[in-house]
Order: sequence, then C-alpha cells, then structure tokens
Amino acid sequence: MSHTDKKILGRIEVIKGDITKINADAIVNAANSSLMGGGGVDGAIHSKGGSAILEACKEIIAQIGHCPTGEAVITTGGNLPAKYVIHTVGPVWQGGKNGETVKLIQCYKNSLLLAAKQGFRVIAFPNISTGVYNYPKDEAAAVAVHTTIDFLLDNPFPEKVVFCCFDTTNYNWTDFYLQTYLKEESK
Ligand code: APR
Repeated sequence: MSHTDKKILGRIEVIKGDITKINADAIVNAANSSLMGGGGVDGAIHSKGGSAILEACKEIIAQIGHCPTGEAVITTGGNLPAKYVIHTVGPVWQGGKNGETVKLIQCYKNSLLLAAKQGFRVIAFPNISTGVYNYPKDEAAAVAVHTTIDFLLDNPFPEKVVFCCFDTTNYNWTDFYLQTYLKEESK
C-alpha cells in the first residue's frame, strides 16, 4: 500500500441517500447563482433547513450581487442536522466545450477550501450539476472524486468527505472512480 493511499483510505466515503439527513459540519448545496433556492437538492435543503438559510443567502447576495459559477459561499444550516451549508454553483452542461469541467472542478475545490478554512472535520457533497444542469454523471463523478483526492492529499481538513448520492447511477459511478483510484494506488 502506497503512502498516498494511506492518506486517502477512510477519508472518503460514498453513500446512497438524502443529504439533508446528514449530520456533518457542512453539507454542500448545488445552488444557482441567485442563491434564492430552486428544485432538486437545493429545494430539499431550503425546505428542510428553513428560512434562516434563505435569509443568510439574501445577506450574501446583497453584498456580492450573485454567486458566479464555480464559486462557493457558506451559511448556517438552519434546522438541518448539518451545522452549515456550503452553496456552490455548478455549470450547466452545454456539450462539454464551454469550460464546464474547469467550472465543476472549481466547485469542488472552492467548497473544500471553505471547509478547510473553517477547520471542518466532515463535509458531504451531492453530485453537483448532474440533475437539472445535465452534466453527464460518469464525467461528473470522475471530477468529484479526483478533485477531492487531490485536495485531501494536500490538506488535513476536512478530515472526511462523504459523497451522498441520491440515485443509483451517481452512486455507482462515484464508487467506481474511488475504488479504481484505491486499487491503482495499492499496486
Ligand atoms: N440529497 C442528495 N442528492 C440529491 C437530493 C438530496 N436530497 N435531491 C436531489 N439530489 C441529487 C440529484 O439526484 C442530482 O443527481 O442532486 C443532484 C444534482 O441535481 P440538482 O439538484 O438538479 O442540481 P444541479 O444539476 O446542480 O442543478 C442546479 O437546480 O433546482 C436547481 O436551484 C438549483 O438552479 C439550480 C439547479
């Protein structure tokens, strides 16, 4: 087993479930640049977290105007079991030639950076951009896993990242890329 493998083993977990039920320092929201809520995971987070999240988003928007694609901001978790919500804006898939990959990498990196700065131990991600924004699930899972591994190799925080996949296809691809990495590293 290699040195890098030991650093990653146990620091990433892939689960199937509803991210609003996760008790973590922070869960990540797949938001849009208005930060005013929407459908999918965004709708679930706002509806279960309550108005404190929307109020905090409004304060942020009053200061920055909008949250650009690839950026991340943090608010309270309101009534959620998670203490905080990190809102990031994923790219809309437009065929892959409009910088979508770079933007999706930025979503994961900027969310992880925020978590590291706060000294968070555990954070959970949904599969950003793979719903309404239509990013292919296979490619999005590769970006999620590899960007997170690169970050964790360089940073002690967050100590653990949970990929909380709502559907089986996302779960299978995310687990596939993690297991493939661990297998390669253990050679
Ligand atoms: N927990 C975890 N994952 C979830 C949940 C949940 N409760 N609900 C949905 N998902 C998953 C979906 O299965 C999908 O794979 O989140 C993934 C991302 O899908 P969307 O929520 O549609 O997010 P995205 O594709 O990034 O589109 C963002 O959707 O509603 C809006 O305001 C949001 O405009 C923004 C857009």
